[in-house]
Amino acid sequence: MAKRTLVTAALPYANGPLHLGHLAGAYLPADLFVRFQRLKGNDIVFICGSDEHGVPITLAAEKEGVTPQDIVDRFHQINKDAFEQFGISFDYFGRTSSETHKKTSQDFFKTLLEKDVFVQKSEQQLYDAKADMFLPDRYVKGTCPVCGFDEAYGDQCEKCGTSLSPSELKNPKSVLTGDIPELRETSHWFLPLGDFQPWLDEWIGGKSDWKQNVIGQCKSWLKSGLSDRAVTRDLRWGVPVPVEGSEGKVLYVWFDAPIGYISTTKEWAQERGNPDEWKTYWQDSDSRLLHFIGKDNIVFHCIMFPSMLKAHGDFVIPDNVPANEFLNLEGKKLSTSRGWAVWLHEYLENFEPDYLRYVLGTTLPETKDSDFSWKDFQTRSNSELADILGNFLFRTLSFTDRYFDGQVPELSNPDSQINEVLKQIMSLKDNIENAYEKFQFREAIQLSMNLARLGNKYFTEMEPWHLRKNDLQKCGDVLHVCLQISAAISIIFDPITPKKMEQLRASLGITEFSFDTIQKQMLKPGTKITQGEILFKKIEDQQVEQQLEKLEKTTKAASPTLEEEQNWPEIKAETDYPSFMTNDLRTGKIIEAEKVAKSKKLLKLSVDLGFETRTIVSGIAEFFTPEEVLGKKVVIVANLAPRKIMNIESQGMILMAQNNDQTLKLVESHGEPGSPIS
Ligand code: MF3
Ligand code: ZN
Repeated sequence: MAKRTLVTAALPYANGPLHLGHLAGAYLPADLFVRFQRLKGNDIVFICGSDEHGVPITLAAEKEGVTPQDIVDRFHQINKDAFEQFGISFDYFGRTSSETHKKTSQDFFKTLLEKDVFVQKSEQQLYDAKADMFLPDRYVKGTCPVCGFDEAYGDQCEKCGTSLSPSELKNPKSVLTGDIPELRETSHWFLPLGDFQPWLDEWIGGKSDWKQNVIGQCKSWLKSGLSDRAVTRDLRWGVPVPVEGSEGKVLYVWFDAPIGYISTTKEWAQERGNPDEWKTYWQDSDSRLLHFIGKDNIVFHCIMFPSMLKAHGDFVIPDNVPANEFLNLEGKKLSTSRGWAVWLHEYLENFEPDYLRYVLGTTLPETKDSDFSWKDFQTRSNSELADILGNFLFRTLSFTDRYFDGQVPELSNPDSQINEVLKQIMSLKDNIENAYEKFQFREAIQLSMNLARLGNKYFTEMEPWHLRKNDLQKCGDVLHVCLQISAAISIIFDPITPKKMEQLRASLGITEFSFDTIQKQMLKPGTKITQGEILFKKIEDQQVEQQLEKLEKTTKAASPTLEEEQNWPEIKAETDYPSFMTNDLRTGKIIEAEKVAKSKKLLKLSVDLGFETRTIVSGIAEFFTPEEVLGKKVVIVANLAPRKIMNIESQGMILMAQNNDQTLKLVESHGEPGSPIS
């Protein structure tokens, strides 16, 4: 096993606040792992920071009409605070706009340049003449060449997941001006990933301890063959390319951001007054590097960044990349643009962080996508945190306080049942350790709750409230055992619900501890304990309903995307063929059209049905001028009973399609006037 570990969690873009999906993807698992390793007394440093470059930032700035600097300053602070409040225990949270980062990433680039790693190429790229700029990545939208989705971004189609380059889009449009971009020549540096393929094949091929979902994605990338990846962009926001004559060009955000892990470690070391300490984590082969990320970042952390590190030569290569899949919300894909998300800062307005840490921890998308629902949040909080863990601790502590003068009783007669229970503490401990080491956090959390289950069951079965009256010594033994379980819990649950466990340890008088101090009998008889308050309260129905209502409201308020617009009415109740066939539909040609006097909505039409001409009054004047409908062949309901509208007898009805924005469109027919439609 490595001497020391550097853990990184994906640097979140500072273009918006964080939501549950972020927490479940990278930050909670990373924090569980790190807190566990610290408990073990292992040398571990936990690094993260804001990703402040790239198109996501500049687009957010443009949308709001502020500078990119305004955006990153705001969200760097908001996200840093949210992490802190959730107890995500980074040793250092940096940002990629720092001077250290600029220098580190420019030096990295220069090294690869000197080593002749890059390919420099001139290419035709999309250019928006009106905005006077090239359109990299998300500056263009268009039709996906793979699935036909017509809102695909220049770097990726969110519908089918294909990663794209802007020039691959069909019907590209500038997101800045809506104009159709032109092509212009520009020159860039590329990382020829193909050159690294043999090394990557072997390196990833040898990773038997990587998660299946990660290996699977890597292999499919490798199988389809790797091509050159541009590592520079024509943009004004970012780390300037450190080459003379390359004004207006910056490093591609996916080139500079992962280097942020290195620069941030440097800043951490500086802050500790030991500026060279970063080197032991990045340059000593006795260190292991672990990247915690969400699945959308796999290619960058398993293929691109390792290739960069390999090419550079001075750094360690990641030891493991325990990426998670995605978290859904109430059965639907999380979407910030559609407002379908739970924001961390908003969660904190209503609940304590440890509840979410626990519940999310039990549903992490470790091997496949998983779901968060408020109902489940309530159920798990109430039936596990409150009814099992909280209840057990409260019963044990208050009983001790009341009947044993707040002191841990002696264990006078350790019978076989007691020995068995105490032994189980140790076997659970081993299994929990095992699960953490294998990045199986759901399992680790479930096993931890099993310890509380064990205690709660033992307390209930032993009925100390009866024993107190007829066998005080046995009653003391039972409480002794329950207090030992409580002490073990206060350490075992520390990575999961750190704030609550701090409170619990204060009640139990535990000050010095580590994972290995967990013993069958940690608390010495006579140790003074205080009762403390109830650690976990129940979540009320109404609190959950409030959250669900809020979710409904925010989605409605969010700007609808194309997908969202497909909000058609429900299909009507079933009909049968004969009933349907009682409608007589015919092709009719509109031969006269005029507005109905004193009405905004109505047009009076003469419709030629071949064998006769009908007068039809139709409520379409807000959508069509008389000229627009003249000569059109449309579909008429020909056997509808005539009715009087504004004193005109209407002898039929014209079929219309109603779009989601409530506009009406003619249903046109290519048949001859009078032809039946069925
Ligand atoms: N900002 C990226 C995202 O949110 C993650 C960057 S990770 C790093 O998807 F490695 F580049 F830092
Ligand atoms: Zn697609």
